[in-house]
Amino acid sequence: MLELDRRNSYFDELFNTPDLIWLGQNTNHFALPPAVKQAMLDCIETEEFHAYAPPAGLEALRELILADAGLAHATALVTDGAIEGLYHACRTLARPGDQFITTDPGWKWPIAFARDAGATVVEIPIYGAEYDYRLQPERLAAAVTEKTRLIYLVDPNNPLGICYTAGEIEAFAGIAREAGAYLIHDCTYWHFADGHTLAANFYPEKTLTTYSFSKWLGIAGLRVGAIIGDGAVIEALAEAPPNNLGSNVLSQRAAIAGLKVKKEWFPDVQRRQRANQARIKAAISAIPGLAMPVYPSNGNFVVVDVADAGLRPESLCDAFRDRGIMIRQAAYHTERFRDKFVKISTTVTEDWIERLCALFPEAVETARGLNRDGSLY
Ligand SMILES: Cc1ncc(COP(=O)(O)O)c(C=O)c1O
Repeated sequence: MLELDRRNSYFDELFNTPDLIWLGQNTNHFALPPAVKQAMLDCIETEEFHAYAPPAGLEALRELILADAGLAHATALVTDGAIEGLYHACRTLARPGDQFITTDPGWKWPIAFARDAGATVVEIPIYGAEYDYRLQPERLAAAVTEKTRLIYLVDPNNPLGICYTAGEIEAFAGIAREAGAYLIHDCTYWHFADGHTLAANFYPEKTLTTYSFSKWLGIAGLRVGAIIGDGAVIEALAEAPPNNLGSNVLSQRAAIAGLKVKKEWFPDVQRRQRANQARIKAAISAIPGLAMPVYPSNGNFVVVDVADAGLRPESLCDAFRDRGIMIRQAAYHTERFRDKFVKISTTVTEDWIERLCALFPEAVETARGLNRDGSLY
């Protein structure tokens, strides 16, 4: 069996499992705002999707994205999810021999994109109390060389949920400028953060900011997002983008409707997912060996450290999977810290989290007996 087929079947089975409790991909499973659903129904009704959307996105959407991000003077390129903007930026900007710097843990796909383009990847470890679970500017500065072309910062960090301060962001931006490097600021989770700062405010010329609708609005499967940057950089990226025939029309209509109701709709999502974080913290605190190193998380997920619990993260994921719940193993994010933690999403209804919490003690017991390293993705 091809590795591709194995990986795909794994996700296909998850996707087609009725009533699966999805806590593994930071997706948002709250009911959509009615206006968003209606916008999609209207789109289907008019069948406007016979035509291609404009190549950089519907103008209304581009404006709303920039307004929401607070980057009114920048330029937005609508993409098929934030990941496509990351792919395009990494593949276009990284050249053979260039250096790409990021954190460990962080998000694995841009690392794969940069490697595929021939870049050398440097992952600075940040998991552990000795690092305070974050990147210190002096450690970034120490990693920079004359080959540094791209610095990729996930902030809030997935999986850790830390969010950098304005001072740290200013320092990172200064280091990138000094190196003449692009700073890719992956802000996929900023809507869930307490006080997030955009690096683009300090280094507009070469900062690329990602924008996602998957997490705050809950339309991951619709694949729409954006990459935002200085006009000249975005213009260069727009010369040969993978989605030059425009992004999905239905998804863009949903995104526009979502941004129009965000102010009324989203605060309750945030309140509920933070309360879910507290529920999980209370449940795991009662189990010896488990800990939550970052709380509250600035993302819609939490990390549970299992290093002292005498079990493998994969075994715990398997034990939950056998009970109808998907959570994520550390190995998805990091080779170095793969034995340390699992990650659990929190933008889900309370009954899902109550079920998770109720099953935690027995899942831990089962996982101790399993000791599987499993082939999870
Ligand atoms: C850090 C990070 N960036 C980007 C993405 C992809 O976002 P999108 O669904 O908008 O492509 C994810 C998805 O999990 C992510 O965790």
